[in-house]
Amino acid sequence: MAEVAIENVEKTFVNEDNENSFTVFKDIDLNVEAGEFVSLLGPSGCGKSTLLNIVAGLEQATAGKVSAGGEPITEPGPDRGVVFQEAALMPWLSVLDNVRFGLKKQKLSAEEEMERAEYFLKLVHLSKFMQSFPHELSGGMKQRVAIARALALDPDVLLMDEPFGALDEQTRTMLHQEVQYIWEETRKTILFVTHNIRESILLSDRIVLMGTRPGRIVETFDVDLERPRKPSDPAFIELEEAINKKLAVEIDKVMREEIGDDYNSKKSALLYHSHRDMGDNI
Ligand SMILES: Nc1ncnc2c1ncn2[C@@H]1O[C@H](COP(=O)(O)OP(=O)(O)OP(=O)(O)O)[C@@H](O)[C@H]1O
Ligand SMILES: [Mg+2]
Repeated sequence: MAEVAIENVEKTFVNEDNENSFTVFKDIDLNVEAGEFVSLLGPSGCGKSTLLNIVAGLEQATAGKVSAGGEPITEPGPDRGVVFQEAALMPWLSVLDNVRFGLKKQKLSAEEEMERAEYFLKLVHLSKFMQSFPHELSGGMKQRVAIARALALDPDVLLMDEPFGALDEQTRTMLHQEVQYIWEETRKTILFVTHNIRESILLSDRIVLMGTRPGRIVETFDVDLERPRKPSDPAFIELEEAINKKLAVEIDKVMREEIGDDYNSKKSALLYHSHRDMGDNI
Protein backbone atom coordinates (compact mmCIF):
# COMPACT_ATOMS: atom_id res chain seq x y z
CA MET A 1 0.00 0.00 0.00
CA ALA A 2 1.16 3.50 -0.67
CA GLU A 3 0.48 6.91 0.67
CA VAL A 4 -0.08 9.92 -1.56
CA ALA A 5 1.75 13.11 -0.64
CA ILE A 6 0.76 16.41 -2.18
CA GLU A 7 3.01 19.25 -1.05
CA ASN A 8 2.60 22.90 -1.91
CA VAL A 9 1.11 22.07 -5.26
CA GLU A 10 0.12 24.71 -7.78
CA LYS A 11 -1.47 24.33 -11.18
CA THR A 12 -1.51 27.13 -13.70
CA PHE A 13 -2.86 26.64 -17.20
CA VAL A 14 -1.36 28.83 -19.92
CA ASN A 15 -3.22 29.17 -23.19
CA GLU A 16 -1.64 28.32 -26.52
CA ASP A 17 -0.44 31.80 -27.40
CA ASN A 18 1.22 31.96 -23.97
CA GLU A 19 -0.62 35.18 -23.19
CA ASN A 20 -3.25 34.26 -20.68
CA SER A 21 -2.67 32.12 -17.69
CA PHE A 22 -5.08 30.83 -15.11
CA THR A 23 -4.09 29.50 -11.71
CA VAL A 24 -6.53 26.79 -10.70
CA PHE A 25 -5.03 26.38 -7.23
CA LYS A 26 -1.86 26.84 -5.27
CA ASP A 27 -0.40 25.82 -1.92
CA ILE A 28 -2.32 22.58 -1.85
CA ASP A 29 -1.06 20.27 0.90
CA LEU A 30 -2.69 16.93 1.37
CA ASN A 31 -1.47 13.57 2.60
CA VAL A 32 -3.53 10.49 2.02
CA GLU A 33 -2.28 7.72 4.29
CA ALA A 34 -1.74 4.21 2.97
CA GLY A 35 -5.09 2.45 3.04
CA GLU A 36 -7.02 5.65 3.75
CA PHE A 37 -10.20 6.66 1.91
CA VAL A 38 -10.27 10.41 1.28
CA SER A 39 -12.95 12.33 -0.61
CA LEU A 40 -12.54 15.68 -2.34
CA LEU A 41 -15.62 17.87 -2.32
CA GLY A 42 -16.03 21.39 -3.65
CA PRO A 43 -17.85 23.64 -6.08
CA SER A 44 -17.58 23.03 -9.79
CA GLY A 45 -14.32 24.43 -11.15
CA CYS A 46 -12.34 24.44 -7.88
CA GLY A 47 -9.83 21.99 -9.33
CA LYS A 48 -10.81 18.57 -7.95
CA SER A 49 -10.32 16.79 -11.28
CA THR A 50 -7.13 18.72 -11.97
CA LEU A 51 -5.69 17.61 -8.63
CA LEU A 52 -6.74 14.01 -9.22
CA ASN A 53 -5.24 14.10 -12.72
CA ILE A 54 -1.96 15.38 -11.30
CA VAL A 55 -1.86 12.41 -8.90
CA ALA A 56 -2.77 10.15 -11.83
CA GLY A 57 0.17 11.62 -13.77
CA LEU A 58 -2.13 12.83 -16.54
CA GLU A 59 -1.38 16.49 -15.74
CA GLN A 60 1.82 18.04 -14.42
CA ALA A 61 1.87 20.33 -11.40
CA THR A 62 3.26 23.79 -12.13
CA ALA A 63 4.96 23.86 -8.72
CA GLY A 64 5.26 21.66 -5.66
CA LYS A 65 5.76 17.94 -5.15
CA VAL A 66 3.48 14.99 -5.64
CA SER A 67 4.44 11.44 -4.77
CA ALA A 68 2.88 8.02 -4.32
CA GLY A 69 4.62 5.52 -2.06
CA GLY A 70 7.51 7.95 -1.80
CA GLU A 71 8.09 8.00 -5.58
CA PRO A 72 7.66 11.32 -7.38
CA ILE A 73 4.78 11.23 -9.86
CA THR A 74 5.69 12.29 -13.39
CA GLU A 75 3.47 10.10 -15.54
CA PRO A 76 0.67 7.54 -15.25
CA GLY A 77 1.76 4.22 -13.74
CA PRO A 78 0.32 0.84 -12.79
CA ASP A 79 0.61 1.77 -9.11
CA ARG A 80 -2.33 4.20 -9.64
CA GLY A 81 -5.64 3.05 -11.11
CA VAL A 82 -8.11 5.63 -12.38
CA VAL A 83 -11.91 5.46 -12.72
CA PHE A 84 -13.71 8.35 -14.41
CA GLN A 85 -17.37 9.38 -14.59
CA GLU A 86 -17.71 7.70 -17.97
CA ALA A 87 -16.53 4.12 -18.04
CA ALA A 88 -14.82 4.54 -21.46
CA LEU A 89 -14.90 0.83 -22.32
CA MET A 90 -13.86 -0.46 -25.70
CA PRO A 91 -17.16 -1.24 -27.42
CA TRP A 92 -15.71 -3.94 -29.69
CA LEU A 93 -14.34 -5.99 -26.78
CA SER A 94 -16.27 -8.21 -24.39
CA VAL A 95 -16.41 -7.33 -20.70
CA LEU A 96 -13.72 -9.91 -19.99
CA ASP A 97 -11.47 -8.62 -22.77
CA ASN A 98 -11.93 -5.03 -21.65
CA VAL A 99 -10.47 -5.98 -18.29
CA ARG A 100 -7.78 -8.18 -19.86
CA PHE A 101 -6.76 -5.42 -22.24
CA GLY A 102 -5.64 -3.26 -19.32
CA LEU A 103 -3.35 -6.09 -18.21
CA LYS A 104 -1.45 -6.38 -21.49
CA LYS A 105 1.49 -4.32 -20.30
CA GLN A 106 1.99 -6.55 -17.29
CA LYS A 107 3.17 -9.43 -19.47
CA LEU A 108 1.29 -12.13 -17.60
CA SER A 109 0.67 -15.56 -19.09
CA ALA A 110 -2.69 -15.90 -20.83
CA GLU A 111 -3.85 -18.05 -17.95
CA GLU A 112 -2.84 -15.55 -15.26
CA GLU A 113 -4.43 -12.75 -17.26
CA MET A 114 -7.66 -14.69 -17.45
CA GLU A 115 -7.64 -15.60 -13.77
CA ARG A 116 -7.01 -12.05 -12.68
CA ALA A 117 -9.71 -10.58 -14.93
CA GLU A 118 -12.22 -13.18 -13.78
CA TYR A 119 -11.38 -12.63 -10.12
CA PHE A 120 -12.05 -8.90 -10.27
CA LEU A 121 -15.17 -9.26 -12.39
CA LYS A 122 -16.44 -11.61 -9.72
CA LEU A 123 -15.57 -9.07 -7.05
CA VAL A 124 -17.84 -6.51 -8.76
CA HIS A 125 -20.53 -9.16 -9.30
CA LEU A 126 -20.26 -9.40 -13.06
CA SER A 127 -19.31 -13.07 -13.46
CA LYS A 128 -22.40 -13.70 -15.53
CA PHE A 129 -21.64 -10.90 -17.95
CA MET A 130 -18.03 -11.63 -18.85
CA GLN A 131 -18.91 -12.45 -22.44
CA SER A 132 -21.31 -9.51 -22.86
CA PHE A 133 -20.42 -6.39 -24.79
CA PRO A 134 -20.54 -2.88 -23.32
CA HIS A 135 -23.72 -1.90 -25.23
CA GLU A 136 -25.52 -4.76 -23.49
CA LEU A 137 -24.79 -3.35 -20.03
CA SER A 138 -26.51 -0.73 -17.88
CA GLY A 139 -24.60 2.39 -16.80
CA GLY A 140 -23.96 0.92 -13.35
CA MET A 141 -22.64 -2.31 -14.84
CA LYS A 142 -20.30 -0.40 -17.13
CA GLN A 143 -18.92 1.47 -14.13
CA ARG A 144 -18.36 -1.85 -12.38
CA VAL A 145 -16.35 -3.05 -15.38
CA ALA A 146 -14.29 0.16 -15.18
CA ILE A 147 -13.70 -0.47 -11.47
CA ALA A 148 -12.70 -4.10 -12.15
CA ARG A 149 -10.38 -2.94 -14.93
CA ALA A 150 -8.66 -0.51 -12.56
CA LEU A 151 -8.46 -3.04 -9.71
CA ALA A 152 -7.10 -5.79 -11.96
CA LEU A 153 -3.87 -3.82 -12.32
CA ASP A 154 -3.57 -4.21 -8.55
CA PRO A 155 -2.71 -0.55 -8.06
CA ASP A 156 -1.74 0.68 -4.59
CA VAL A 157 -3.79 3.79 -5.15
CA LEU A 158 -7.25 4.07 -6.66
CA LEU A 159 -8.24 7.48 -8.05
CA MET A 160 -11.94 7.95 -8.72
CA ASP A 161 -13.42 11.07 -10.33
CA GLU A 162 -17.18 11.19 -9.76
CA PRO A 163 -17.42 7.51 -10.67
CA PHE A 164 -21.12 7.38 -9.84
CA GLY A 165 -22.02 10.92 -10.91
CA ALA A 166 -24.02 9.85 -13.93
CA LEU A 167 -25.95 7.06 -12.24
CA ASP A 168 -29.41 6.91 -10.72
CA GLU A 169 -29.80 6.87 -6.95
CA GLN A 170 -30.54 3.16 -6.67
CA THR A 171 -27.56 2.03 -8.71
CA ARG A 172 -25.40 4.48 -6.83
CA THR A 173 -26.45 3.01 -3.48
CA MET A 174 -25.62 -0.46 -4.72
CA LEU A 175 -22.21 0.64 -5.91
CA HIS A 176 -21.53 2.36 -2.58
CA GLN A 177 -21.91 -1.00 -0.92
CA GLU A 178 -19.62 -2.58 -3.48
CA VAL A 179 -16.95 0.06 -3.11
CA GLN A 180 -17.04 -0.31 0.67
CA TYR A 181 -16.71 -4.05 0.32
CA ILE A 182 -13.84 -3.73 -2.13
CA TRP A 183 -12.08 -1.22 0.06
CA GLU A 184 -12.42 -3.48 3.09
CA GLU A 185 -11.15 -6.46 1.08
CA THR A 186 -8.23 -4.74 -0.61
CA ARG A 187 -7.44 -1.72 1.59
CA LYS A 188 -6.38 0.36 -1.36
CA THR A 189 -5.51 3.98 -0.77
CA ILE A 190 -8.46 5.81 -2.34
CA LEU A 191 -8.82 9.41 -3.47
CA PHE A 192 -12.42 9.96 -4.49
CA VAL A 193 -13.92 13.07 -6.11
CA THR A 194 -17.63 13.71 -5.65
CA HIS A 195 -20.29 16.41 -5.52
CA ASN A 196 -22.42 14.35 -3.23
CA ILE A 197 -21.97 15.08 0.47
CA ARG A 198 -23.89 12.01 1.56
CA GLU A 199 -21.76 9.77 -0.63
CA SER A 200 -18.57 11.25 0.82
CA ILE A 201 -19.75 10.64 4.41
CA LEU A 202 -20.86 7.10 3.62
CA LEU A 203 -17.52 6.12 2.18
CA SER A 204 -14.62 8.17 3.50
CA ASP A 205 -12.31 8.34 6.47
CA ARG A 206 -11.72 11.98 5.72
CA ILE A 207 -13.43 14.63 3.58
CA VAL A 208 -11.42 17.47 2.12
CA LEU A 209 -13.52 20.48 1.21
CA MET A 210 -12.04 22.66 -1.51
CA GLY A 211 -12.97 26.22 -2.35
CA THR A 212 -12.37 28.27 -5.43
CA ARG A 213 -10.89 31.56 -6.64
CA PRO A 214 -8.29 30.76 -5.72
CA GLY A 215 -8.66 26.99 -5.50
CA ARG A 216 -7.63 25.87 -2.02
CA ILE A 217 -8.42 23.50 0.81
CA VAL A 218 -11.02 25.13 3.02
CA GLU A 219 -11.45 22.49 5.68
CA THR A 220 -10.91 18.83 6.40
CA PHE A 221 -13.57 16.76 8.14
CA ASP A 222 -12.78 13.47 9.88
CA VAL A 223 -15.60 10.99 9.57
CA ASP A 224 -15.54 9.20 12.92
CA LEU A 225 -18.60 7.08 12.34
CA GLU A 226 -18.72 3.32 12.46
CA ARG A 227 -19.24 1.49 9.18
CA PRO A 228 -21.64 0.66 7.66
CA ARG A 229 -22.95 4.17 8.05
CA LYS A 230 -26.57 5.19 8.03
CA PRO A 231 -27.72 8.54 6.62
CA SER A 232 -30.47 8.56 9.27
CA ASP A 233 -27.96 8.45 12.14
CA PRO A 234 -28.06 11.83 14.01
CA ALA A 235 -24.25 12.12 13.93
CA PHE A 236 -24.36 11.53 10.16
CA ILE A 237 -26.96 14.26 9.71
CA GLU A 238 -25.00 16.65 11.90
CA LEU A 239 -21.85 16.20 9.83
CA GLU A 240 -23.84 16.45 6.60
CA GLU A 241 -25.27 19.77 7.71
CA ALA A 242 -21.90 21.12 8.82
CA ILE A 243 -20.35 20.28 5.44
CA ASN A 244 -23.38 21.55 3.55
CA LYS A 245 -23.11 24.89 5.29
CA LYS A 246 -19.42 25.32 4.46
CA LEU A 247 -19.93 24.17 0.89
CA ALA A 248 -22.85 26.56 0.45
CA VAL A 249 -20.52 29.47 1.32
CA GLU A 250 -18.10 28.38 -1.42
CA ILE A 251 -20.85 27.86 -3.98
CA ASP A 252 -22.24 31.25 -3.05
CA LYS A 253 -18.91 32.86 -3.94
CA VAL A 254 -18.85 31.19 -7.33
CA MET A 255 -22.44 32.13 -8.12
CA ARG A 256 -21.84 35.71 -7.05
CA GLU A 257 -18.90 36.00 -9.45
CA GLU A 258 -20.62 34.24 -12.30
CA ILE A 259 -24.04 35.84 -12.11
CA GLY A 260 -22.87 39.17 -10.69
CA ASP A 261 -25.44 41.79 -9.74
CA ASP A 262 -28.43 39.71 -10.64
CA TYR A 263 -27.33 37.14 -8.14
CA ASN A 264 -29.16 38.38 -5.06
CA SER A 265 -32.49 38.49 -6.79
CA LYS A 266 -32.05 35.07 -8.32
CA LYS A 267 -30.48 33.40 -5.32
CA SER A 268 -33.51 32.38 -3.35
CA ALA A 269 -35.22 31.03 -6.42
CA LEU A 270 -32.18 29.16 -7.63
CA LEU A 271 -30.27 27.70 -4.82
CA TYR A 272 -31.41 27.04 -1.40
CA HIS A 273 -34.28 24.67 -1.71
CA SER A 274 -32.53 22.66 -4.30
CA HIS A 275 -29.58 21.26 -2.29
CA ARG A 276 -31.27 18.78 -0.04
CA ASP A 277 -34.14 18.09 -2.38
CA MET A 278 -31.71 17.02 -5.04
CA GLY A 279 -29.88 14.62 -2.74
CA ASP A 280 -27.09 17.14 -2.29
CA ASN A 281 -26.06 16.77 -5.87
CA ILE A 282 -24.65 20.14 -6.56
N1 LIG B 1 -6.67 21.87 -19.91
C1 LIG B 1 -7.12 22.97 -19.36
N2 LIG B 1 -6.80 24.19 -19.84
C2 LIG B 1 -7.24 25.32 -19.27
N3 LIG B 1 -8.01 25.37 -18.16
C3 LIG B 1 -8.35 24.20 -17.62
C4 LIG B 1 -7.94 22.94 -18.18
N4 LIG B 1 -8.46 21.94 -17.40
C5 LIG B 1 -9.16 22.55 -16.43
N5 LIG B 1 -9.10 23.89 -16.55
C6 LIG B 1 -9.71 24.88 -15.66
O1 LIG B 1 -9.34 24.58 -14.34
C7 LIG B 1 -10.42 24.80 -13.45
C8 LIG B 1 -10.63 23.56 -12.62
O2 LIG B 1 -11.14 22.53 -13.43
P1 LIG B 1 -11.47 21.10 -12.85
O3 LIG B 1 -11.99 20.30 -13.97
O4 LIG B 1 -10.28 20.58 -12.12
O5 LIG B 1 -12.61 21.44 -11.79
P2 LIG B 1 -13.53 20.48 -10.93
O6 LIG B 1 -13.41 20.93 -9.51
O7 LIG B 1 -13.21 19.07 -11.23
O8 LIG B 1 -14.98 20.84 -11.47
P3 LIG B 1 -16.30 19.92 -11.67
O9 LIG B 1 -16.83 19.75 -10.29
O10 LIG B 1 -17.17 20.73 -12.53
O11 LIG B 1 -15.86 18.63 -12.29
C9 LIG B 1 -11.61 25.19 -14.30
O12 LIG B 1 -11.76 26.58 -14.24
C10 LIG B 1 -11.23 24.78 -15.69
O13 LIG B 1 -11.76 25.63 -16.65
MG1 LIG C 1 -14.25 17.49 -12.15
